[in-house]
Amino acid sequence: MNVSIIGTGYVGLTTGVCLGYLGHKVTCIDSDEKKIALLRSGKTPIYEPYLTELMAEAQPNLRFCSNLAGAVNNADVIFIAVGTPPAPDGSPDLRYLSQVARGIGEHYAGDFVVVVNKSTVPIGSGNWVDSLIRESYEQHHGRKANGNFCVASNPEFLREGTALHDSLYADRVVVGSDDSRALEVLYSLYRPILDQTFAAPTYLPRPERIGAVPLISTDLASAELIKYAANAFLALKISYINEISHLAEKVGADIAQVGKGIGLDARIGTRFLQAGIGWGGSCFGKDTSALVSTAKEYNLTMPIVQAARDVNSRQRDRVVAKLLGELKILKGRTIGLLGLAFKPNTDDLREAPAIDIAKKLIDRGCKVRVHDPVAMERFQQEYATLGAICCDSPEEVADEADALVLVTEWPEYRELDFEALAARMHCRVILDGRNALDRARLTRFGYRYIGIA
Ligand code: UDX
Repeated sequence: MNVSIIGTGYVGLTTGVCLGYLGHKVTCIDSDEKKIALLRSGKTPIYEPYLTELMAEAQPNLRFCSNLAGAVNNADVIFIAVGTPPAPDGSPDLRYLSQVARGIGEHYAGDFVVVVNKSTVPIGSGNWVDSLIRESYEQHHGRKANGNFCVASNPEFLREGTALHDSLYADRVVVGSDDSRALEVLYSLYRPILDQTFAAPTYLPRPERIGAVPLISTDLASAELIKYAANAFLALKISYINEISHLAEKVGADIAQVGKGIGLDARIGTRFLQAGIGWGGSCFGKDTSALVSTAKEYNLTMPIVQAARDVNSRQRDRVVAKLLGELKILKGRTIGLLGLAFKPNTDDLREAPAIDIAKKLIDRGCKVRVHDPVAMERFQQEYATLGAICCDSPEEVADEADALVLVTEWPEYRELDFEALAARMHCRVILDGRNALDRARLTRFGYRYIGIA
């Protein structure tokens, strides 16, 4: 099929590369010319494992351009995957979405196309996009767009760092539309994934026990709600284990064992029960906030979702409280943060716990030294004014430090020579914000080890 994807962020680019790999003819469009030039040269603007490799394999089926006008006309499917960043009041900024919808109405001159909302958009956006496209079509073509367009929602569930795996070997594919033609087109588009008939890339082998991927084919509103409800559920699962970890700390229980003991109940599941300094990233914060505010429009409250948010922000304060408890005075202390990205295998700093924690510590008069294996450049660009000291290595972070905090559980941090690090530190205190380090080993090297329960 001919597919146009508007927006080459995480979602758009991953979707485009995967669909190109599956054999569809894909045009990726972005108004940012620099990004397009970079993509044309075979490089990617984001750090995502194997994306460059898969892009190279899909290259014969991929085209990149910065001009919407010429790129949508012969499409069978147009994906809208532009950013919906949070506005200052927390609501998603839908400016780009509306510009693109109007642009499609203006430039599409064919007989029939399915327009798919792939960005995480507020519930009801499908109808809104449909009306914007039709209005713009009528304005520019002088006639009504009767059967030319239909709008669908196709939420993505990919995690940064494993985005390609999550897309090719999805747990499920969700498509929603009030027009059955759209559902048929999307079924054909995703057929190779649903039936798992494509040849797996050598570096992304097919999981052993994967069968056919279930397709949830539903109405527009249900698909839109599925996306929010899924993310909010994952967020609250994490907040739940973090809340339990407070009590575990008081009663002297081991939260890792508690998590395992709970999660092995098949009804609960072991994943997303890892206690720590809480969730960050571009989705959980934004989506839980949007869910609460959508509910408000209907005079509903969402006490469970709100509590998940509150518990998450409390986790950040817990880091400061633990350091205060240990060091007694924070003013003038040097604290080293290991990890800035909101999780390993990404350079994404959106809602990263490290940023909040660094701010809180700097406000308390600490010197904060930071390191991350891949996010340093982005950090220097986006947070130059924060006042943190950027270090080239974990060893440099440890220099004269009164405490180290493991913020992101990068695999290389687990393998660090902590004995050598200890020799450089002023006080041997380590706060393992992800419960990822070996307590016994660190204690042997003379550290005072503090975990999250
Ligand atoms: C999430 C959803 O998982 C994905 O389905 C959706 O499409 C986008 O949002 P992502 O933000 O990339 O994906 O990362 P994810 O792996 O879900 O982790 C989110 C945050 O939760 C990270 O900060 C991570 O460190 C934290 N986390 C995750 C925990 O603190 N404990 C856990 O057990 C799992």
